Amino acid sequence: MEIAGNCGVFVGGASGMCRATAMRFAEKGGKVAILDLEQSDGAKVAESLGGVFQPCNVMDYEGMEASIESAVNAIGGIHFMVNTAGGGVAQRTIKKDGSRHALEDFRRIIDLNLIASFNINSIAAQHMASNEPNENGERGVMINTASIAAFEGQIGQVAYTAAKGGIAAMTLTMARDLGTHGIRCMTIAPSLFDTGLTAGIPDEGALQLTKDAAFPKRMGRPDEFAVMAIAIFESAMMNGSTLRVDGGQRFAPR
Ligand SMILES: NC(=O)c1ccc[n+]([C@@H]2O[C@H](COP(=O)([O-])OP(=O)(O)OC[C@H]3O[C@@H](n4cnc5c(N)ncnc54)[C@H](O)[C@@H]3O)[C@@H](O)[C@H]2O)c1
Repeated sequence: MEIAGNCGVFVGGASGMCRATAMRFAEKGGKVAILDLEQSDGAKVAESLGGVFQPCNVMDYEGMEASIESAVNAIGGIHFMVNTAGGGVAQRTIKKDGSRHALEDFRRIIDLNLIASFNINSIAAQHMASNEPNENGERGVMINTASIAAFEGQIGQVAYTAAKGGIAAMTLTMARDLGTHGIRCMTIAPSLFDTGLTAGIPDEGALQLTKDAAFPKRMGRPDEFAVMAIAIFESAMMNGSTLRVDGGQRFAPR
């Protein structure tokens, strides 16, 4: 799809990989809505891109309907939706003290990553379905964020792995569901990226976590995610799969 003149909704767009994607989309002439937590830098980021900020919490499933609708009305449509809101918890299935992984923590991580992503996707797709198709029959593109932990989760990542694995697994099915509407659905699975989420990881920790990459052996940069997300939007053949953006990294068990 062409970016110029089209509209993008960026959930988690106040920071990191989604902000970098919104920046590239705006640079190429797209209209941008940043959706993020009220206390985030969303308003500042939106202003710098000539876009709008819509506060939201992806865990407020019903509230997301109104948030997305208001963003869509403000910028005049939705052709692109990128969602990076998410996160994990560090807990083993059986902890060192013999107690079990707290079920409520497992459920919270599934809710934040998997249920929230599906909810955002179904709302965004409903809006996109009423778009006029372009000359190739395309109405919109959605990108979710998994992690390479979806495929090789480290010790203590069981909830995160289950949630991100669910996002990766639903991608093809959702693309098939939405194919008749001309809506594409992709997932990006990053390795360790230098963003707000990882700001607390010390340099030695980052070295340890990137040592098994083929090349480059370093954290990814938010713009390296953005370049991929923009390529997905622009290429009509990108659909139904999860792309690793990881420098050839495979996580070791710890
Ligand atoms: N950074 C990494 O190393 C890495 C690696 C693999 C996967 N991921 C995934 O990427 C995503 C995080 O993106 P990032 O690394 O650019 O981090 P980031 O913290 O820079 O950006 C994430 C944005 O999401 C927003 N957000 C968080 N919870 C939200 C909620 N409940 N409602 C609305 N907005 C919310 C945050 O305010 C933030 O602006 C997560 O889904 C994470 O699992 C990150």
